Amino acid sequence: MAVAKKKIPVSRRRRPSPLVVCVLSRKKTLYSTRRLVQAAKLLGYRPLVLDTLRCNVVVESGRPVLRYGTEPVPPLDVVVPRIGASITSYGLAVVSQLEMMEVPVLNDANAIASSRDKLRCLQLLGRRGVGIPTTLMAHRRTDIGPLVEQVGGLPVIVKLIQGTQGIGVMIARTFDEVETLLNTFWDLGHDILLQQFIQESEGKDIRAFVVGDRVVAAMRRQAKAGEFRSNIHRGGEGVPIDLSEELTATAVRAARIIGLEVAGVDMLESNRGPMVLEVNSSPGFEGIEGATRLDVAGKIIRHAAQLALAHKAGFCKRRVV
Ligand SMILES: Nc1ncnc2c1ncn2[C@@H]1O[C@H](COP(=O)(O)OP(=O)(O)O)[C@@H](O)[C@H]1O
Ligand SMILES: [Mg+2]
Repeated sequence: MAVAKKKIPVSRRRRPSPLVVCVLSRKKTLYSTRRLVQAAKLLGYRPLVLDTLRCNVVVESGRPVLRYGTEPVPPLDVVVPRIGASITSYGLAVVSQLEMMEVPVLNDANAIASSRDKLRCLQLLGRRGVGIPTTLMAHRRTDIGPLVEQVGGLPVIVKLIQGTQGIGVMIARTFDEVETLLNTFWDLGHDILLQQFIQESEGKDIRAFVVGDRVVAAMRRQAKAGEFRSNIHRGGEGVPIDLSEELTATAVRAARIIGLEVAGVDMLESNRGPMVLEVNSSPGFEGIEGATRLDVAGKIIRHAAQLALAHKAGFCKRRVV
């Protein structure tokens, strides 16, 4: 005998609980963190900000655990790591632990590590034929002349391997300046890069914000007068631009090669086509949302939610570079 199905009133039907979208960030008050929280709320998800440095990593055989102070971390559906350069190694351990616990993360530890090392990043891009300025690392105190020649002659860019916001990027216009800079950093025990100066792009660059397989916002940054670095933190100004197909494809490809789902790709428009300078794994949104009036945070949260749902369904997209 067929049993009549009892109808449950709409109000009493169990709704799936909203996705818990975690933002790993040192401070709730940072612009990008606030925007991610706001976007997650607007889209109906449950945002949770965890301070990276309050996460304790517990490694045991067969049971990876993350604690928040003394409390266990609640179940998370997806994590958006915002790892500042000053806490890279701690942040990488936390993100890596989340991966061990099979929590989807929107930028994994390996990709973040590659992005933080400017030389490694360029090695990975150069190998795949992406345009990059010729870059050299050396440590022997030989004649400086041949080193400078190898990167196209004077002036030359001298760059710390790890640096951000333009700090650690210098220009040397004479051999004496190159020598002084190299010797100073070598004496301090730092490895340093010599890089071809892309003259035609002096004082300006392109920041393309990539989420998944798309550029969601792009701006051209113009340095302030007398400055060759166009970083917003160095007084540069951003204006929105429609990226050419070539620049778009280069930015997306660079993010894919480094393995980042969210990336700020810095590019120069050289006479020989786009050249990638670096790929940032925790790019700030304040400058680009301000310049373009686009909802970058919303795009990230939507992408994070897609990843969380794919993970729940047991489907994880493998990316082909
Ligand atoms: N090889 C180069 N030629 C011309 N300008 C450069 C070069 N490298 C860096 N710059 C300028 O310096 C800025 C900062 O360099 P970047 O490598 O992105 O370091 P950071 O991580 O500090 O932002 C760039 O946005 C660009 O304006
Ligand atoms: Mg940069």
